[in-house]
Amino acid sequence: MISDLPWLDMARSGRLGERSVCFLSETDSTNDVALALAGDGALGGTVVVAERQSRGRGRLGREWLSPPGVGLYCSFILRPQLESADLPKLTLGAGLAASRAVETVTSLRPLLKWPNDLWLAGKKVGGILAEARLAPAGPLVILGIGVNVNTPQDAFPVELRDKVTSLAGHAGREFARSGLLGALGDELMAMVARAEREGFAGILADWRERDATRGRELEWLTQSGQVIRGLSLGPDEEGLLRIRDAAGTAHEVLSGDISLAGSGRE
Ligand code: BTN
Repeated sequence: MISDLPWLDMARSGRLGERSVCFLSETDSTNDVALALAGDGALGGTVVVAERQSRGRGRLGREWLSPPGVGLYCSFILRPQLESADLPKLTLGAGLAASRAVETVTSLRPLLKWPNDLWLAGKKVGGILAEARLAPAGPLVILGIGVNVNTPQDAFPVELRDKVTSLAGHAGREFARSGLLGALGDELMAMVARAEREGFAGILADWRERDATRGRELEWLTQSGQVIRGLSLGPDEEGLLRIRDAAGTAHEVLSGDISLAGSGRE
């Protein structure tokens, strides 16, 4: 196992560089802890990190497997000065920030699968669970980020093994989680500041550069259970995914499950 002294130091001191970190050796879900801290007034930029989660949550009610010592499981509290209509775009921005952080630290370049999965060679390596609360002072957003950093392939359930990977599994060497956490914090805060300063046009343009599925055939399982198949046109200026079906009708996806046609679901 790779030695990661800054991680051990962070666990002891609650600091990683300039950033103060709420470090937990075990918790249900860092998103829940972050929500509770935010309710007690924690500042924007605060991050909760766990060595393992007993009930890590993914999008659409899925579980996020969180074995100890190998993955990055963290939740950032954000209090962005943005309109609530901008929040879906902020979650896309978070995927972009996470992809960039991985690239800075590992030289791997994960692509993005709408809304914000990180993919390497067609397999999922990370994901983001964004949860927002509206308050009179402005929105509160919890950005929960999970990255399979050094997770061995046999830690995943058999039925997922051909759909998921880790940074180490892809690169053939392990990475220090502390470096990734630091880069993630820097990229996220820079992305929020950019959105507050200039809006989302540039962020969405950068997102499209890393779009894993643009121009490919997708299946969208709507929340009512209908399956719509069509070509991905990428996210529009509101951050909604556009799909054009065989009849030429364009659909805008606000939520639901997206997969490559014929690939099966996670
Ligand atoms: C997804 O791809 O479905 C989103 C996965 C998000 C997982 C992270 S791990 C840290 C944070 N705490 C959670 O319970 N979930 C997020």
